[in-house]
Amino acid sequence: MEQGTITTPEQISPTIFIICGVTGDLAQRKLLPALLSLYTKKLLPKKFKIVGFSRREFTDADFRLFLKEEMHIKRDVYRPEDIHHFLNNVVYQQGQFDSQVAYENLSKRLAQIDDLEFKQCSNKLFHLSVAPSFYETILGQLSKSGLTIPCGGNLGWTRILVEKPFGNDIETAQKLDALLGTLFKEEQIFRIDHYFAKEALQNILAFRFSNSLFEPLWNNQHIECVHIQLLEKIGIEGRGNFYDSIGALKDVGQSHILAMLAQLVMNEPASFDAHNIRKERANVLKNIRPITSRNIRESAVRAQYVGYTEEPGVSKSSNTETYFQIQTYIDSKVWKGVTFYLESGKALSENKTEISIYFKDKTKQNKPNILSLRIQPDEAIKIRFWVKKPGFGMQTEPKTLDFHYRDFHAPQSIPDAYERVLYDAILGDQTLFTSTDEIKYAWKFITPIIDSWKTLPLERYQKGSKRPNLNTL
Ligand code: BG6
Repeated sequence: MEQGTITTPEQISPTIFIICGVTGDLAQRKLLPALLSLYTKKLLPKKFKIVGFSRREFTDADFRLFLKEEMHIKRDVYRPEDIHHFLNNVVYQQGQFDSQVAYENLSKRLAQIDDLEFKQCSNKLFHLSVAPSFYETILGQLSKSGLTIPCGGNLGWTRILVEKPFGNDIETAQKLDALLGTLFKEEQIFRIDHYFAKEALQNILAFRFSNSLFEPLWNNQHIECVHIQLLEKIGIEGRGNFYDSIGALKDVGQSHILAMLAQLVMNEPASFDAHNIRKERANVLKNIRPITSRNIRESAVRAQYVGYTEEPGVSKSSNTETYFQIQTYIDSKVWKGVTFYLESGKALSENKTEISIYFKDKTKQNKPNILSLRIQPDEAIKIRFWVKKPGFGMQTEPKTLDFHYRDFHAPQSIPDAYERVLYDAILGDQTLFTSTDEIKYAWKFITPIIDSWKTLPLERYQKGSKRPNLNTL
């Protein structure tokens, strides 16, 4: 599954990154730091500009001062002159998201950069760093102002990066997709699920398909069950308004957890390109057994941490879940009978995103081999196996073989997921982005759960619990 030589971003013609909602948390915490890091690694096009587009009033100079304060910059990693040069490439364009004039001004500003600085038509990469409720307005306005139209010929492309949650249920997701489809061709649309861009998640394909030791075991003959966990210490971090309207299952279940599931069990693709990989991931999601009002009680648990309703922006009578556990199956020949446990929660005692594969226990003594793929923190692969306890008897004891990325690779050699997202979008590689089919099948699985689990009791757990003490599945 080795890839051939690829074009490097430095060889890409001049590019403008337009960040709508640039003063917001995502831009300051993830996007701009990722661009800075790519810049210092020489992984951006040689000529680039970042245009921040937002509602607040700033001059370019004031905006740079704002970034010096607000942007998450690892000052111990970068040289001050690199930060300075990077910021010199950032400019600001004020505008209300629903004002046509604002987009006309933005369009003029981009044309000015092309004419005066690049002296050619540049590539345009738009990122919607705003609440999903603004998507429709912004997309409509971008289209009206002609900003979505590439220069034509070989002279410049236009692409758009859209954040999750992509829609709010199957209907709204399809409506958004239809709108995007009228404005852009599929190859211009990059739907982000930053989990695909995590190093240890990408490694699952390399691990499975480059090791003849494991792939033959990757089926229901050998695997009993799989646990996929995304456990977080943090609560909702000031995002009360947003979070309360969606809850854990839509926030990470519909996207990150299903991304891990698809990556883990997909069939080997005909070739390792975006089309075939995304097709196989979508096939997994298509075959997840539905959970509806008929089987919800034995298939799902939902809970909320005590104190959640006191968080700013959260309704005092909120029934939104901050934790869930789901038990499901994949209705395919290869995975028939294997149980999949999907679990995620906020305000728990540890940060851990991990996939644990429990192999069938030949001894029938509750001594399974377990293969754990640690996605974060401390990316690792661990194998638990059984050996004879030294001595005269014939007892066995568990031991672990493990590989930690940190023992072999410096932390900075592992790109942050957003660096990878931007890098691939610049190169036009959609492998690590969600396809329209993946979105459709993910919502097809999640929507009936949301519809039917209102009948389930919402259990409570204390903040900082190891795992909620629930009536678990
Ligand atoms: C985001 C969710 O998509 O993913 C957050 O909205 C969650 O609620 C985050 O905390 C987890 O991502 P990461 O990369 O920090 O594991």
